[in-house]
Amino acid sequence: MLSWDDYNEEEKAPVQVPETTPAVVIDEPVIATVTEAQAAPAPAPVVEEAVAAPEPAPVETAATPEPVIEAPAPVADEALQVGAHLEPESYERVTVDQKAMINCRADLNQLVPFKYDWAWQKYLDGCANHWMPQEVNMTADIALWKSEDGLTEDERVIVKRNLGFFSTADSLVANNLVLAIYRLITNPECRQYLLRQAFEEAIHTHAYQYCIESLGMDEGEIFNMYHEIPSVADKASWALKYTKEIQDPRFTTGTVETDKTLLKNLIAYYCVLEGIFFYCGFTQILSMGRRNKMTGTSEQFQYILRDESMHVNFGIDVINQIKLENPHLWDQEMQELARTMVLEGTNLEIAYARDTMPRGVLGMNANMMEEYLQFIANRRLAQIGLAEQYPGAKNPFPWMSEIMDLKKEKNFFETRVTEYQTGGALSWD
Ligand SMILES: [Fe+2]
Ligand SMILES: [Fe+2]
Repeated sequence: MLSWDDYNEEEKAPVQVPETTPAVVIDEPVIATVTEAQAAPAPAPVVEEAVAAPEPAPVETAATPEPVIEAPAPVADEALQVGAHLEPESYERVTVDQKAMINCRADLNQLVPFKYDWAWQKYLDGCANHWMPQEVNMTADIALWKSEDGLTEDERVIVKRNLGFFSTADSLVANNLVLAIYRLITNPECRQYLLRQAFEEAIHTHAYQYCIESLGMDEGEIFNMYHEIPSVADKASWALKYTKEIQDPRFTTGTVETDKTLLKNLIAYYCVLEGIFFYCGFTQILSMGRRNKMTGTSEQFQYILRDESMHVNFGIDVINQIKLENPHLWDQEMQELARTMVLEGTNLEIAYARDTMPRGVLGMNANMMEEYLQFIANRRLAQIGLAEQYPGAKNPFPWMSEIMDLKKEKNFFETRVTEYQTGGALSWD
């Protein structure tokens, strides 16, 4: 029997304090399992032409131009070619020192020796956390949804909007993983986690589809919200532009400009889409469950949230590791761009909160959600080493902190091995 309350327990395993944490202004420690020792011995060489290239287009116009690929760097291409290292004259055993997050020339088919133990551990943790949507009983939800007066109209809007947003958002994440970033992350243990994450995203999309079908909703209406409902469409299109920048099979990393483009994608998806865009909806649906409404749907969301917490933490570790190995990428321009992206994402999520909550509902309102999202945004900024932008933002939903707070997230990851169960059930106690 799994319960979120378990995450309140004192840590059962010693907390590993990272040797290096990004400079932050908040008091709490920032999750970063990346250490200096894992940094590559030497950053990728800087291509002078790329350094001297004009400033990248601002975020507002980033979606407009198709990526211009003048001379793809050969590094990723070589690494991608299965069998490229099987020629007798080029064969060599991979050493830890040869491994790198991006632009690695070592054979990517050799998982070991491990360099990034945190990535492998997250893969193991994800596997220990396996669940399937059909394990959740939806009977009470079906009865409540079909009853005349079981839910208010505002509550119905929240259920439909969130199923509309999430049912396609997880597909966006999965497609970005598989079609865009997987081939550009040149490390086998990270790829192992990406494969696990991709399957989890498929399970999430399955879960939303399972809810939509169980409740007898209009599937066309729900699955097209990301085209038809502005507050949903704005979030989806914001993320999609970052996929488009790197999904062209001819796109490769290897220059400052292209490496930064990959970094932007990672920040967009892990810090903003999975790290901010999910939080209004999760809070609304979990609040509903706490009020004994739509408990099956809420339970599905709890399982998904547990997965998503790990996705965000993995992504932040990846971003910080790339920064460690390629400090020249994390210049003033890139930091400013990352900050702008987080602020844009926060504003889009606040707009979503206002659209889904025109009035107070479920013990919350849009103003409370705005502060909560600012609180979350501060955390995301700090996790990648940037200063918080919303001074004094507090968490107005203390019950959510049991699940999502950074400190609890840390506990969550480091005590979870005995708490994860396959096929377990969550309780609302
Ligand atoms: Fe997901
Ligand atoms: Fe995810």
